[in-house]
Amino acid sequence: MSSKEASDTHFFNSFSLVLGILIFIAIVLYFWARDLGYQQVEHAQSDAQQTAAVTENIQPFAQVAIAGQDNSALAALEAPKAAPAAMEIPKTGEAAYTAVCSACHAQGINGAPKIGDHAAWGPRLAQGKATLYEHAIAGKGAMPPRGGTTWPDATIHMTIDYMVTLNSK
Ligand code: HEC
Repeated sequence: MSSKEASDTHFFNSFSLVLGILIFIAIVLYFWARDLGYQQVEHAQSDAQQTAAVTENIQPFAQVAIAGQDNSALAALEAPKAAPAAMEIPKTGEAAYTAVCSACHAQGINGAPKIGDHAAWGPRLAQGKATLYEHAIAGKGAMPPRGGTTWPDATIHMTIDYMVTLNSK
């Protein structure tokens, strides 16, 4: 073998090796790219799910019905027909007092005139019932308007009447 032939052989061997490595890399890249493509399809699906989840999470708590517009979509969000028992307007002064007013007035919380404390009630009773009604409805100092309820005047009056009878015992 001449030295030229030897160098040709050497060149051919090296060239084949480099070519082989390049083909191998090309095959690897081909499969890698194909795999990436599949992954992207999967991502596209989970993106749609994620978007749905985020949209659900950022829904407003409340929706406003606007007069004169179609509010039928809000129908399902309407308040339940039957109000919870605690929100019902009590039928007797005693029930009203027990449900709400006693929270402060039974123990004299926050300077509330305690039921049965004649010294605390004396000057208040002396104002006359009309004034007691007025103060209880409008609120006075730490006494919240209507005791923090939305009960009508008649219920508040009835409750005060009941509290007054407790005090005169
Ligand atoms: C959060 C505690 C609290 C609740 C609940 C509450 N009260 Fe009072 N109430 C007070 C306090 C405190 C005062 C004393 C206010 C003052 O004289 O500054 C008061 C005073 C009053 C007075 C005397 C007002 C006056 O002219 O001196 C009446 C009557 C009264 N409450 C009725 C009621 C009735 C009826 C309810 C239930 C519907 C009720 N309260 C619920 C705290 C409360």
